[in-house]
Amino acid sequence: MNEKIESLKARFKEKMASVNQKEALEQLRVSFMGKKGEFTALLKDMKDMQEGVRKQFGQLVNCAKMDFERAILEKAREIEAAEIAKKTESEWVDITWPEEPLQGSAHPLSIVRAELEDLFTSLGFDIMDGPEMEEEYFNFNALNIPEDHPARDSQDTFWLKNGKLLRSQTSPVQIRGMLAKKPPIKFVSPGKTYRNEAVDASHEHSFHQCEGLVIDKGITVSHLVFTLQQIISSIFGEEVEIRLRPSFFPFVEPGFELDFKCRICKGKGCSVCKQTGWIEYLGCGMVHPQVLKNCGIDPEIYSGFAFGGGIERLAMMKYGIDDIRHFHGGDLRFLKQF
Ligand code: PHE
Repeated sequence: MNEKIESLKARFKEKMASVNQKEALEQLRVSFMGKKGEFTALLKDMKDMQEGVRKQFGQLVNCAKMDFERAILEKAREIEAAEIAKKTESEWVDITWPEEPLQGSAHPLSIVRAELEDLFTSLGFDIMDGPEMEEEYFNFNALNIPEDHPARDSQDTFWLKNGKLLRSQTSPVQIRGMLAKKPPIKFVSPGKTYRNEAVDASHEHSFHQCEGLVIDKGITVSHLVFTLQQIISSIFGEEVEIRLRPSFFPFVEPGFELDFKCRICKGKGCSVCKQTGWIEYLGCGMVHPQVLKNCGIDPEIYSGFAFGGGIERLAMMKYGIDDIRHFHGGDLRFLKQF
C-alpha cells in the first residue's frame, strides 16, 4: 500500500517540477486532487482493507494530500511573483518624469528668421524661396562669376553628381526673382546656404543667409542704407548706427560691406569687434547692370539694390552667442534658453 503512495508522490513531484504557469498548475491539481483524480482512485482500494491497515493508510493518504496542497499553494505564489516581476520590468513608470508634457521652443535661428520676415513684409517686401540644390549658372555665372573667376574660390561649395551644387549664397534667388517677376521687384529670401568650409567658432559648412532685392526706377544707395538701418535697429530693439565700406562682389557695382556699431562695447572697442568698434555684417550694393541684362531688365530704365547677410551672425549678436556650432549642436541646455 505504501508503495502506491510513494509512487504517487514521485509522480506528483516530477510533474510539479515542470509547471510554471497558472493553467498548467490547475490541470495538475485537478488530475491529482479532483473528483476523478489520483487520490480518489487510491481511496477506492480502502474499502477492502482490514480495519487497522485502513486507518494507517488513511493517515498516510491525508498527510500526502496536505503536502500536495501546500506544494500547489506555494507554486501558485511563485508563479504570481514571477508574473509581477515581469510586469514591473516591462510596464514601469518613471515617477520623476514631469507631469506636464515637455514643451518645445522655436530654434533661435527660426526666431530671428521669422522676425526678419515680419520686419521686411512690414516694409512691403515679398518673401521668395529658392532651391538649396542649385544650378551652377544661377549660383555663379548669372551673377557675373564665370568659371575662372577668383570669387569662386571664396565660395567653394559641395558639387553634386548630377552637376548641380549646394548654393553657396542666397544670391541666386536674385536671378530667379528677376526672371520670374517684372519690376518693380521687392523681396527677401531667407534660407540655407553651404560652403566647403573648415568649421570653427565662426564658420559652419551649413548656415543661413537672408537675401534682399529691390528693383525699380530711381533706386539709389540711400534706399539701401535706410532699409538696412531700419531692419537692424528693429532686430536689436533700439537705434543702431551702421556704415558702408567699399567692397567687391562681382554682381553689384558699387559694392559695399555694411558694418554696425558693436553691441557689446557700443563702439569703444572690445574683443568681439576686434577693437574696431564695428561689426562687419553683410555684403550689399547696387545691382550690376550686366546682371540686370542677364535677367532681361533694362539698366537704362531700372536700378536696384541687393544685400545678403548671415542669419547666424545676427542671432549671435542678438543673443550673445559666442560659438556658431551651438546652433546645430542639438544641446537642449542651449536650445531651451530661447
Ligand atoms: N552673396 C554675398 C555673400 O554671400 C553677399 C551679397 C549679397 C553681396 C548681395 C552683395 C549683394 O557674400
